Amino acid sequence: MNNGITLLSPAKLNLYLRVINKRPDGYHNLITLFEKVNLCDEIRLVSKEDSNIIIHCNNKQVPTGPKNLIYQIVAILQKKYGIKRGVEVYINKRIPVAAGLAGGSSNAGTVLLGLNKLWKMRLSQETLVEIGRQVGSDVPFFLFDCKWALGTERGDQIQELPINLDLWHLLVVPHIKMYSREVFTRLNLQLTKKVDDVNILIRSLKQNDVKKAGKLLFNDLEESILRIRPNLEKAKESLKSCYLEGVTFSGSGPAAFGITGSQKSAEKAKSFVDKRYSRVFVVRTL
Ligand code: C5P
Repeated sequence: MNNGITLLSPAKLNLYLRVINKRPDGYHNLITLFEKVNLCDEIRLVSKEDSNIIIHCNNKQVPTGPKNLIYQIVAILQKKYGIKRGVEVYINKRIPVAAGLAGGSSNAGTVLLGLNKLWKMRLSQETLVEIGRQVGSDVPFFLFDCKWALGTERGDQIQELPINLDLWHLLVVPHIKMYSREVFTRLNLQLTKKVDDVNILIRSLKQNDVKKAGKLLFNDLEESILRIRPNLEKAKESLKSCYLEGVTFSGSGPAAFGITGSQKSAEKAKSFVDKRYSRVFVVRTL
């Protein structure tokens, strides 16, 4: 019986994240450059005759009840469309949790796309995005079949970018959980950057100019991340000493990454930081 589907759910990196201002709804308007990378969770969905939402995960840090963004997506679909079926979800978690890599949002987006197929719902892209953004600002990016995108407003207005470059990254994820809410709350908007060079960054990526792109990596949340966890400066400094083209934090951290144009230089950089950190990944554009 064809009631199951297996999907890959990728992590994202933010190569650029500028905070514009705080909005009346408490969120912040952003300009961010998203990239999907080949660090992926694996998700198996099996449709159920009853309406239960059962989530299994090999990582005990992941909630399996209503706090899980997958659970929230399925509950919205059931309620909005009067669906009587449920689903059993098996997550093979490889993306570090609460790390700035949007693992939970990616899982939610992937399941939304998966159930749209499995349950033959034929929801439009616009409707999928509308549902996705209800559970997290990062979810809409994962609903687009693209490697690169510009995110504006809450980060949930997605414009796909035709960039063909495959970048290599060295990614270090210290064993600290960071919560976006806290990082945004502690942000001092006076200290955020006022110039806008995301277009120069996009242009350099389109021109395969990794060196120039490296100089333009930027994250306005860095100051707040380092105020909450000053020790994370060390992770960044370690990456900086590895001859990468540029280093920054992804999202609200603590994942820090550098970029380079070849697997060889990423692997070489890994050998420098491997001794100091246990969660070190060489990843590339998906
Ligand atoms: O949308 P998401 O649930 O991922 O956001 C988590 C928290 O991060 C929000 O409650 C908000 O405090 C903060 N946030 C924000 N502006 C954004 C995205 C997130 O202030 N654009």
